[in-house]
Amino acid sequence: MQSAVIILAAGKGSRMRSDLPKVLHPLGNVPLLAHAMASAEATAPARMIVVAGHGADMVEAAALRINPACQIALQIEQKGTAHAADQARSLLAGFEGTVVVLFGDTPFVRGETLERVLDARRGGSDLVVLGFEAEDPHGYGRLITDGDALEAIVETKDANPEQLAIRLCNSGVMAADAATLFSLIDAVEPVNAQGEYYLTDIVGIARNRGLTATVVTCPEAETLGVNSRADLARAEAVFQGKMRQDAMEAGVTLVDPQSTFFSQDTVIGRDVLVEPNVMFGPVVTIENDVTIKGFSHLEGCHISSGAVIGPFARLRPGAEIGTGAKVGNFVEVKNADVQEGAKLNHLSYVGDAVVGKRANIGAGTITCNYDGVFKHQTVIGDDAFVGSNSSLVAPVRIGAGAVLGSGGVITQDVPDGDLAIARARQVNKPGLGAKLMHRLRELKTRGSRP
Ligand code: UD1
Ligand code: CA
Repeated sequence: MQSAVIILAAGKGSRMRSDLPKVLHPLGNVPLLAHAMASAEATAPARMIVVAGHGADMVEAAALRINPACQIALQIEQKGTAHAADQARSLLAGFEGTVVVLFGDTPFVRGETLERVLDARRGGSDLVVLGFEAEDPHGYGRLITDGDALEAIVETKDANPEQLAIRLCNSGVMAADAATLFSLIDAVEPVNAQGEYYLTDIVGIARNRGLTATVVTCPEAETLGVNSRADLARAEAVFQGKMRQDAMEAGVTLVDPQSTFFSQDTVIGRDVLVEPNVMFGPVVTIENDVTIKGFSHLEGCHISSGAVIGPFARLRPGAEIGTGAKVGNFVEVKNADVQEGAKLNHLSYVGDAVVGKRANIGAGTITCNYDGVFKHQTVIGDDAFVGSNSSLVAPVRIGAGAVLGSGGVITQDVPDGDLAIARARQVNKPGLGAKLMHRLRELKTRGSRP
């Protein structure tokens, strides 16, 4: 049985107090929406539809970036969750199979859990709702059951005291055959405290039609929904906790897990040692046996095995660090191929560059890659030695095995094996230093200035 997924992501998210649509707020450095889409993708749906409304342009662009195969349905006015799901109707015209509805603001539902929902559909239930036992059920829809059968869902704002005491709640995930789902939605009326079309009403409608409805349950941790910034912070803490646990289980040493921050897409090998206060931004991949020393900030980079990074290193997008290379303290690398065994040990900026194998970049070296309008490339050959405090004015090529004297401003290519000196020749004036100091001290004693 093939399945389709509708992800509701049109709501305003007023409680976020933000200009950014709620589902685009980042969790683990990717939008909330990306987490919901990843859960859905785990069930290999034949179709994925994202319902966008508030900030639709932004939501659409993000959704297509995350999964170019997804489709967007527009909900121009946000009249409730049933109305939102209904906007996917025309895109699903002729689709035969189960439709799973989930929320873009609920990031932790596991693929396995959605599989269990689909199993319950295969088992013959017309309508399946994913529920959970809530520690504090306030704000959630309550599941009204009779034995194994689900009879109705009542929203907090519409519930009587007896119903409010129920702790079995609606996660927001529902599944039904496509034709059944849209036929049930047709019967939903906005007769409730909020005057909205509630998707939750389809349960009562299904029961009145003699259809069967069941609940599949999951741990509350999976159903955490983000409605406010405080919820977002809680979700981030949960997410980071999971990533740290997973990393350690996969053979990564985190000296201080609490101060190590991951992104959803961080990939990290075995026997990697991560010192305290390290931030893995988006799109970082790290091979085995790498050491990341404290206070390093990494994003968009790849680090090969045996490399040592930091402390206080900054790797920016396009930094490719080769096997056994070293990037030391206060070094920034951007869009640069730092090859096997190269050393950038102290206080450097290396951008739009190739640093050849075993090349040594002295302290304070800067690639001057930007002329104010264009970016230019610096190529440093294998085994080159770049003296401390060199300015490499790109575009420029330093040959293999070339040596640059310290303090040079290098504007011309240096052939393989040459020594380049690009600074004024030093002049020593005999005795003049002592004479100068003597004169200055004399002036000071007399209370005057030079
Ligand atoms: C909803 C459920 C509630 C459940 C809870 C779980 C309904 C009526 N209530 O309540 O039973 O316990 O989620 O977290 O379904 N959205 C749209 N268009 C709209 C309205 C909402 O796309 O017109 C989207 C939102 O962007 C959001 C999701 O639907 O992703 C849920 O909407 P929200 O307003 O947060 O519902 P809750 O009040 O949390
Ligand atoms: Ca919600």
